[in-house]
Amino acid sequence: MAITCKYTLHLSVIFSFFLVISSAVSESDILLTFKNSVEDPLNFLSDWTNTTGIHYCNWTGISCTRTFPFSVSSINLQNLNLSGEISSSVCKLSKLSNLNLADNLFNQPIPLHLSQCGSLESLNISNNLIWGTIPDQISQFGSLRLLDFSRNHIEGKIPESIGSLKQLQFLILGSNFLSGSVPLVLGNFTELLVLDLSENPFFDSEIPGDIVKLNKLEQLLLQGSGFYGEMPDFFVGLKSLMILDLSQNNLIGEIPKIELFLPNLVSFDVSRNKLSGSFPTGVCEAKGLTNFSLHSNFLNGSIPNESINKCLNLERVQVQDNGFSGNFPSWLWSLPKVKLIRAENNRFTGEIPDSLSGDAQLEQVQIDNNSFIGKIPQGLGKIRSLYRFSASLNGFYGELPPNFCDSPVMSIINLSQNYISGRIPELIKCRKLVSLSLADNSFVGEIPESLAKLPVLTYLDLSCNNLTGSIPEELQNLKLALFNVSFNQLSGRVPFSLISGLPASFLQGNPGLCGPGLTNPCSSDKPSSKTSHLTKVTCALVSTALFFALVIVAFGFYLVRRSYNRKSQLGSWRLVFFYPLRVTEHDLIMAMDEKTARGGGGVFGSVYVVNLPSGELVAVKKIVNFCSQSSKSLKTEIKSIAKIRHKNVIKILGLCYSDDSMFLIYEYLPNGSLGDLIDKPCFDFAWTVRLKIAIGIAQALAYLHKDYLPHLLHRNVKSTNILLDADLQPKLTDIAFDRIVGENAFQSTMASECASSCYLAPEYGYTKKASEEIDTYGFGVVLLELITGRKAEREEKESGESLDVVKWVRRKINITDGALKVLDPKISSSSQQEMLGVLEIALRCTAVIPEKRPSMSEVVKALETINSRASSSNPPF
Ligand SMILES: *[C@@H]1O[C@H](CO)[C@@H](O)[C@H](O)[C@H]1NC(C)=O
Ligand SMILES: *[C@@H]1O[C@H](CO)[C@@H](O)[C@H](O)[C@H]1NC(C)=O
Ligand SMILES: *[C@@H]1O[C@H](CO)[C@@H](O)[C@H](O)[C@H]1NC(C)=O
Ligand SMILES: *[C@@H]1O[C@H](CO)[C@@H](O)[C@H](O)[C@H]1NC(C)=O
Ligand SMILES: *[C@@H]1O[C@H](CO)[C@@H](O)[C@H](O)[C@H]1NC(C)=O
Ligand SMILES: *[C@@H]1O[C@H](CO)[C@@H](O)[C@H](O)[C@H]1NC(C)=O
Ligand SMILES: *[C@@H]1O[C@H](CO)[C@@H](O)[C@H](O)[C@H]1NC(C)=O
Ligand SMILES: *[C@@H]1O[C@H](CO)[C@@H](O)[C@H](O)[C@H]1NC(C)=O
Ligand SMILES: *[C@@H]1O[C@H](CO)[C@@H](O)[C@H](O)[C@H]1NC(C)=O
Ligand SMILES: *[C@@H]1O[C@H](CO)[C@@H](O)[C@H](O)[C@H]1NC(C)=O
Repeated sequence: MAITCKYTLHLSVIFSFFLVISSAVSESDILLTFKNSVEDPLNFLSDWTNTTGIHYCNWTGISCTRTFPFSVSSINLQNLNLSGEISSSVCKLSKLSNLNLADNLFNQPIPLHLSQCGSLESLNISNNLIWGTIPDQISQFGSLRLLDFSRNHIEGKIPESIGSLKQLQFLILGSNFLSGSVPLVLGNFTELLVLDLSENPFFDSEIPGDIVKLNKLEQLLLQGSGFYGEMPDFFVGLKSLMILDLSQNNLIGEIPKIELFLPNLVSFDVSRNKLSGSFPTGVCEAKGLTNFSLHSNFLNGSIPNESINKCLNLERVQVQDNGFSGNFPSWLWSLPKVKLIRAENNRFTGEIPDSLSGDAQLEQVQIDNNSFIGKIPQGLGKIRSLYRFSASLNGFYGELPPNFCDSPVMSIINLSQNYISGRIPELIKCRKLVSLSLADNSFVGEIPESLAKLPVLTYLDLSCNNLTGSIPEELQNLKLALFNVSFNQLSGRVPFSLISGLPASFLQGNPGLCGPGLTNPCSSDKPSSKTSHLTKVTCALVSTALFFALVIVAFGFYLVRRSYNRKSQLGSWRLVFFYPLRVTEHDLIMAMDEKTARGGGGVFGSVYVVNLPSGELVAVKKIVNFCSQSSKSLKTEIKSIAKIRHKNVIKILGLCYSDDSMFLIYEYLPNGSLGDLIDKPCFDFAWTVRLKIAIGIAQALAYLHKDYLPHLLHRNVKSTNILLDADLQPKLTDIAFDRIVGENAFQSTMASECASSCYLAPEYGYTKKASEEIDTYGFGVVLLELITGRKAEREEKESGESLDVVKWVRRKINITDGALKVLDPKISSSSQQEMLGVLEIALRCTAVIPEKRPSMSEVVKALETINSRASSSNPPF
């Protein structure tokens, strides 16, 4: 008995083992068959093979059921550049519920045969090259919960038979070429959570009324699909709606005046239609209501206060570019989570409540071109998250509250074409303000000098007011791309740098203004150039101080050398080599002589060219001002920088140091620095050479930022830190000196270096924090130098005032055909197209807002694209 029992047990074990093996074999074979019909040029599916012994459940993209016997439940192969054929062989996988082939290159009709996959619940073939129509047989996918055919080339009508997919929770057909009218079967999808028919420009359809029935629907995305007619009264049913996007269609009529019950609504977008009437007052239902009919009286008159409390989740309201009129609902302004209100280009009336609370989350308000009236509210300045407030072309009047720009992130203010009066308040707190337009109001008084202290202010339009007094000299310190003060009552001399490069029309209509190029030359010459004087004096002072510092250093060095010579003993000096170099401390110290000192060399120390006994030349830089670092950490830092191996980074050959002195030994490059070369009148590098320099330096920076470990920031990118070897191959030097001299010494040295200030990104004015974006900015300035052939900072001959290249370029390109005028005339016009391409990159690199600047690896890509196009179109013969 016992024996039989045992025996059967064994048998069953063996049997089930056999079963498992056979099922395993067949599932892996099924997958291999599937793989056979797929083209996989990048070999992502190389581990799909039965030879390596990896279980198929662990193959790329495969997931299996958790329990024994493991069986394939999911295939996820998105974004692998797959093409070929989607074979129905996968339907033999009896547990397969999810197939995701999104973001590939499958080029075929809708794979209808996949309807044989009995347990398939989710089919995602978004973003392929699927073409053809949706066949009637789509109804065979009866078990699908998720169907994503978006971003393909599917055309034709949506068949009515789709209405039998009653399990669907996600129906995503956006960004195709579907046409005709949408069949009245959407009401069948009672489980639907997301319906996306957006961006199908060939639909010729009204919004089907049966959408009303989808009371689980959370996202309704119908934007950009040519829907016309009136909006159905669908809000009655769409109780779960969170995101509604009907923008960019041809909808007409009013937003349905039903009491809405949309407590979950987060985003409401009906912008860019032809809607009219007043704003639907009931979007936010009153507290605690579960019954609409009770509240039909809301249709008439104002909304009770409680409704304010109800749209607790609404964040984005977009009704711009329609024909709405009537009172803009004032409770919208106080919704607890509202971030974005866009209502521009309508005919709304009403006021913004004065009592906006500091707790509000508002970030962006655009209500231009309406009929709002009243005062700019006091509460506006208290909203700490507001970064854009744009309310031009309305009827606002009264004075601006002094705090109107107090939000620490405020970036764009446009109040032009209103009736605002009084003086322009001092703007002190909005350190991130980029654009300020107060044109065409009734401002009086002077232009506040404090404007000059806003470090990133770039667009300033004060035209058509009643401003008096002179234009503050300090405004020259800004990198203004637009400065329009036309038609005021201003008088006095126009600061030089505001005249050069700006169209005269931006100054016209001020009979009292005078200056070169204006109808009214100033009577007494230069009565008031005290600021520029001041700058120059400061610069002169600093450079004198630097000179003395260098003399002292040199003298100190001389003393060191003397005492060292006297002792004739090398005990205190240590030498570390990062490259083989046949030299002793003695040779090195002896060879360094005041005579070999090279001018320039940068602020962190002077540079000597040393002829080694072997005949080799090296450059030796004496580092000043490194005392704040312990010598041990210093050596570690230098070693980590010296380990950089990149063809566009200068080699640090070694390090020679004593307790109080330090010398870095570099490879010697005969051609000197790009900065010194650009400075010469004969600078005439060919465009290909300039592009090569740009690409090399961009690659070096991208390498430091992303590939080198530890990631390094250069922190002082400028053309004098770009050296050129005998083949004009560029090499970046002075990398990460903050790590060598310490943060404090680094910052104070940078602060004293007048000449490099125009390489510093504007935000460095308010944050001294190092960032990749600041390197990118510096690189952008170097690019501009290469494109224009101008030094970053250049003295104007006539006036002796200096103009920085970013400012100069920005202003020029604001004028018609200006972009062509900034290109270096020494370069032949055959390179014009490429130069304009590079100019665009340079402008992005020098964007005022750091987030807008590209990463250095993006810059490399963009420059290389331009370069490859150039070399293919101009064969080198
Ligand atoms: C393993 O793959 C080879 C071809 O690569 C095939 O001939 C063989 O039948 C496969 N074996 C099994 C058990 O699937
Ligand atoms: C997949 O790999 C993991 C570890 O790499 C292993 O623990 C697991 O057993 C493998 N699964 C199967 C089904 O072989
Ligand atoms: C994938 O294919 C696209 C188009 O053929 C190509 O542009 C892209 O570079 C490929 N991706 C990779 C990683 O090769
Ligand atoms: C389909 O797959 C893509 C890529 O993985 C994904 O972004 C998209 O959200 C998926 N669609 C749905 C409806 O989940
Ligand atoms: C929609 O559902 C109804 C009732 O369940 C059914 O009779 C009808 O056939 C469905 N429509 C389509 C097009 O499948
Ligand atoms: C609204 O409430 C009233 C009374 O409570 C009830 O008679 C009516 O049927 C409700 N209406 C709806 C649409 O629920
Ligand atoms: C609106 O209210 C007025 C009086 O307050 C009333 O005469 C009118 O019938 C109401 N209209 C509607 C549509 O309820
Ligand atoms: C309702 O509005 C009135 C007038 O605006 C106001 O005095 C009152 O405090 C509000 N009530 C609530 C609960 O907000
Ligand atoms: C203002 O809005 C109207 C539509 O309300 C539009 O026709 C007009 O062009 C807009 N004006 C400007 C300056 O945008
Ligand atoms: C400007 O001020 C003058 C006198 O102060 C006044 O006569 C004139 O109307 C004002 N112009 C505007 C546009 O406010």
